[in-house]
Amino acid sequence: MMTLLEVAGLSVIYHTDEGTVYALDKIDLAVGKGEIVSVVGESGSGKSTLANTVIKLLPPYAKVTEGRVLFEGKDILSLSEEDMRSIRGNRISMIFQEPNIALNPLFKIKEFMTDVYLAHHPEASREEALSRSLEMLREARVPTPEDVLERYPHELSGGMKQRVLIATSLLNSPDLLIADEPTSALDVSVQAQIISLLKRLQREKNMSVIFITHDLAVAAQIADRIVVMYAGHVLEEGSVDEVFQKPLHPYTEMLMKSVPKIGAEKIESPPGSIPDLRRRIEQCPFMDRCPKAFGKCREKPPLIALGDRKVACWLYNEG
Ligand SMILES: Nc1ncnc2c1ncn2[C@@H]1O[C@H](COP(=O)(O)OP(=O)(O)OP(=O)(O)O)[C@@H](O)[C@H]1O
Ligand SMILES: [Mg+2]
Repeated sequence: MMTLLEVAGLSVIYHTDEGTVYALDKIDLAVGKGEIVSVVGESGSGKSTLANTVIKLLPPYAKVTEGRVLFEGKDILSLSEEDMRSIRGNRISMIFQEPNIALNPLFKIKEFMTDVYLAHHPEASREEALSRSLEMLREARVPTPEDVLERYPHELSGGMKQRVLIATSLLNSPDLLIADEPTSALDVSVQAQIISLLKRLQREKNMSVIFITHDLAVAAQIADRIVVMYAGHVLEEGSVDEVFQKPLHPYTEMLMKSVPKIGAEKIESPPGSIPDLRRRIEQCPFMDRCPKAFGKCREKPPLIALGDRKVACWLYNEG
């Protein structure tokens, strides 16, 4: 499989009033053409920071301190904002965690969608932009697309807004779609519909997807491969089947135990909490919560390859 996106040794910090936050520490991630990769991890593990770095939408007080982000072999981080604007929303598009922030309450859906299309097709007419918007709403299985185009965001349900955003993100046929928890605010049946929609679009258009979630059960439904993040580090990576059959990292095991049984109401958060990111982590990031920790864990284990899987844990590393 051809590699579309490669993140290598990426570290990102935020300069805040309370000090420096070490949000990402030497992250590695590769996404193949047409592949769905799910990034999973608890709140604060750095999933959104990773997504926002790839699409170059970090706030000004954030800084990439090391590493590379290569899209089709080209370094995204060194692109000017102008060059990035021709990629963002076009070759790479993103569905944000919170639909109400992405949609402008003052604009009808048709104005919002046609603007996104016209930004990358300045030669196109409004009519063309409108018919493309309609086509994408149909692709996203929006029941009454002509009617939805005439609506304001507040007139739509959460599930419908997220469908509109998916349709919008597909307007320019992106090669890579980054979906940051697009379903976590939705009820389970709508969530299942959105997941099957994304899978179908990925199949039909050979689109690559990075699907971010804190929910392993959702990741298992959608992804080919899973990347487990924790406190700004990648702890484990592998195919969905392998990771579910035999999680290697004790953190992944713990996450699996917190996956709800079918019919259960809520996901239980695993016990303990993510370490303070206001100083750089020098030991295994999971050491303080790990039932299997031993002396060696005071040194940070590197992410090593075991066949076609990867794990950052001294239990699997004689080093
Ligand atoms: N804009 C920001 N300014 C300052 N700190 C931030 C900012 N965004 C994230 N952080 C910090 O960076 C770390 C990683 O946060 P991030 O939002 O990337 O995690 P996440 O995995 O997406 O979490 P969630 O599941 O809650 O969305 C956290 O410690 C968070 O407080
Ligand atoms: Mg997030």
